[in-house]
Amino acid sequence: MKVSDAVTTRKTMRAFRADPVPEETVREILRLAARAPSGGNVQPWRVHVLLGAARDELVARVAAARKEFPMGEAPEYHVYPPDLTEPYRTRRFRVGEMMYATVNIPREDKAARIRFFSRNWQFFDAPVGLIFTMDRQMQQGQWADLGMYLQTIMLLARQYGLHTCPQEAWAVWHRVIRSYLDVPENEMIFCGMGIGYADETAPVNGLVSERAPLEEYVTFHSAIAGTV
Ligand SMILES: Cc1cc2nc3c(=O)[nH]c(=O)nc-3n(C[C@H](O)[C@H](O)[C@H](O)COP(=O)(O)O)c2cc1C
Repeated sequence: MKVSDAVTTRKTMRAFRADPVPEETVREILRLAARAPSGGNVQPWRVHVLLGAARDELVARVAAARKEFPMGEAPEYHVYPPDLTEPYRTRRFRVGEMMYATVNIPREDKAARIRFFSRNWQFFDAPVGLIFTMDRQMQQGQWADLGMYLQTIMLLARQYGLHTCPQEAWAVWHRVIRSYLDVPENEMIFCGMGIGYADETAPVNGLVSERAPLEEYVTFHSAIAGTV
C-alpha cells in the first residue's frame, strides 16, 4: 500500500463489523507504530489494549456509570479550548452537522444525538479498544509526539484492511478507566481508539470530512522576507 493510499483511505469510522481482529495483528501494528518519532526519543505514549471480555467489561462499566453521570465527568484536560475561535469553531460545528446528517438526526433531536454520541463508549462496536495515557509531567512537545503515534497506528491499520476511530470521548470516563485498568495517578487518560473492520454499509461511514484549502493556512516563502 502506498503511503498516500493509507493517508487518503484513513478516515474516522463510526460503525464496525463484529469480525474479530487477531491479537497478533494488533501487536504487529503496535510494534511497527513504535517507529513513530518523538522529541529526544522519549516515546511518551502508554497504551492499554482491550480485547474480548476485557473490552466488553469497560463498555459495561461505563454503561453502569452513566446512571450517575449520563454524559461522563469533566475530562482531565480541555478537549477543546473553552472559547474556540474562528475558523476552528465553524470547522468543528460543520463536521458535527455533517455527521448527524448522515444518520438523519436533526439539531433539535438532542436525545437522538446523545444516543448516537454515546456509541463512542461502545467503541462503535469495534472489537478492539485502545486507551492512551501519558505521564502528567509531559509538555506540549510530548502531546505532539503522542499525536504522531496515534496517526502512525491509524495508517498502519489501513495496511491490514482495518479502520480506526480515535476517541477523545473516553476522556470523560477517566475515573472508571483508571480504576478498571489500574492507571497510576501520575498518568493522564488522553483518549481511546476503536480498531476493527468498518461496516461499509453504515451511512455514517459515508461521511467524508472537509479540509480547508492550503491557502488558508500555508505560507510559502521563496524570497527573503522584507526584500519584496
Ligand atoms: C485525538 C482525536 C480524538 C477524536 N475523538 C473523537 C471522538 O471522541 N468521537 C468521534 O466520533 N470522533 C473523534 N475524532 C475524529 C474527528 O472528528 C475526525 O478526525 C475529524 O472530524 C476529521 O475526520 P476524519 O478523521 O474522518 O478525516 C477524534 C479525532 C482525533 C484526532
